[in-house]
Amino acid sequence: MSASLTLIYPDDFHVHLRDGLALNTTVAATARCFKRALIMPNLLPAISSIAAALDYRQRLLDHLPANSEFQPLMSLYLTDDTPVHLIDQAKTSHCIKAVKLYPSGATTNSHAGVTAIEKVMPVLERMAELQLPLLLHGEVTDPAVDVFDREAVFLDNVLEPLRRALPELPIVLEHITTLEAVDYCRAQTGRFAATITVHHLLYNRNALLGNGLRPHLFCLPILKRQRHQQALRCAATSGDPRFFLGTDSAPHELRTKESACGCAGIFSAPVAMELYAQVFEEEGALHHLEAFASRHGADFYQLPYNSSTLALKRDPWIVPDSLPYLGGQIIPLAAGQQLSWKINND
Ligand code: NCD
Ligand code: ZN
Repeated sequence: MSASLTLIYPDDFHVHLRDGLALNTTVAATARCFKRALIMPNLLPAISSIAAALDYRQRLLDHLPANSEFQPLMSLYLTDDTPVHLIDQAKTSHCIKAVKLYPSGATTNSHAGVTAIEKVMPVLERMAELQLPLLLHGEVTDPAVDVFDREAVFLDNVLEPLRRALPELPIVLEHITTLEAVDYCRAQTGRFAATITVHHLLYNRNALLGNGLRPHLFCLPILKRQRHQQALRCAATSGDPRFFLGTDSAPHELRTKESACGCAGIFSAPVAMELYAQVFEEEGALHHLEAFASRHGADFYQLPYNSSTLALKRDPWIVPDSLPYLGGQIIPLAAGQQLSWKINND
């Protein structure tokens, strides 16, 4: 049993940092254990222009702790009206690493998202030509489809036709939650990958619903049954380069979670690397943690590996019950629980 771990500094390729006063909490929480992060654009209004992305990036940099070398990587929010020339500008901006497709109505702040994939085909064709990755929130929004089936139906009805039409388009299937998505990803060749959150590795829907309703474990795509969780644990810890780290840390203030209509999203940044290490250790795969957290994502995005390292030590600590957020409070993932791995700041 090793007492410490040293990794090439990890990157988080899917995180929500929000804006305004939220940045006082979120930026430091992510910069604490990630050197780079791909910032999701689902703000209000959405980050759908280069100027908005660059302004947002500057606000993030303005909130960095002193001496932090954290680099925000930006994404653009795809709408039905995104012009094709924006893709050329994004590619030459060097700050924008991807374009995010939210099916309209699929999740938090997605109403400005894409209503039908046909409407954005010219934009996707240009992205394929310029090799700018598409990030997919992979769920259908048809209310007739059961919430637990929305990812699997998306694979058949949206993703597979898109792959056939544009096989060269680089795609990240974000925050996968099902055995079907794992199998789909494993069957792909070329620039195709999937991110996996730590909460989908740690929990299944029993934790959300089986012993009282746990609003702080409610996220989208929703936690699935145990066999899907097992498939995700197997994929993440296997060393397969098509799977890499994206926390989908998505903060919402306590009152908006503990509500008659609670928001979807789990704030995992304050415990992310500690819990990924726990999962990899439980699976006997700590030797694959660095590849998942620090190399596979950089390889996909054609970025250099980080030159510095992050150390974790075995040093039990208790996660705070809550943290200050937006003048109220936020409940982090694993609140009040004891974790065995700790970031070594010595
Ligand atoms: C995210 C959010 O709150 O912005 N929520 C979530 O449950 N994951 C949006 C998203 O990534 O779906
Ligand atoms: Zn997300």
